Amino acid sequence: MKFSIGVFGSGRGSNFKSVLDKIKEGYLESEIKVVISNNSNAGILEIARLNNIPSYHISIKQFNSENEFNQKILDVLEKHSVDFILLAGYMKKIDSNIVNKYKNRILNIHPALIPSFCGQGMYGLNVHKAVLDYGCKITGVTVHLVNEEYDNGPIVLQKPVEVNDDDTPEELADRVLKEEHKLIIEAIRLFEEERLIVKGRKVIRRK
Ligand code: GRF
Repeated sequence: MKFSIGVFGSGRGSNFKSVLDKIKEGYLESEIKVVISNNSNAGILEIARLNNIPSYHISIKQFNSENEFNQKILDVLEKHSVDFILLAGYMKKIDSNIVNKYKNRILNIHPALIPSFCGQGMYGLNVHKAVLDYGCKITGVTVHLVNEEYDNGPIVLQKPVEVNDDDTPEELADRVLKEEHKLIIEAIRLFEEERLIVKGRKVIRRK
């Protein structure tokens, strides 16, 4: 199944780039139709422009209400016939109208093993600092479906990453990021192959 993907991001866009590369290679059959960012300086918007993918800076500050803001996002998704959303470093909660319209069709990638080191405030280096401060030996990557709570929807895939005694947060972040770039591709591919069944909180993978 080929999806028309809308990507949301607030930062540099390396996960977006990884997906884009796999589409160009022909490993994924979906297309990225649009990129949306709440941050006008986000690298993700620049990557979209360089690749001639329609991109939008949509910030709550441009609107009088949350409703108008969310409606604008829905309008843009509709304009570009989006049927699948990828959150690639998007720092805002997704409105329930969007969650409902794209039920089980929104993926997020998180740089830790959920339900540890996730939720509000757990983003970027904060996550890796917290993992190191706690003394964890293992961290990892989670790809999950999105609901109205931060980092809370059913888990699609997880991949462990070992923590080294002398890791800095930056070193750990780099190793985790490499796995993120692979796991998000694997997750999209499973959706394309229609091999995932969502039963409550569980995502079951058909052989
Ligand atoms: C990644 O670490 C992702 O797990 C998290 O935000 C970061 C985004 O990085 N949700 P990038 O913009 O894809 O480079």
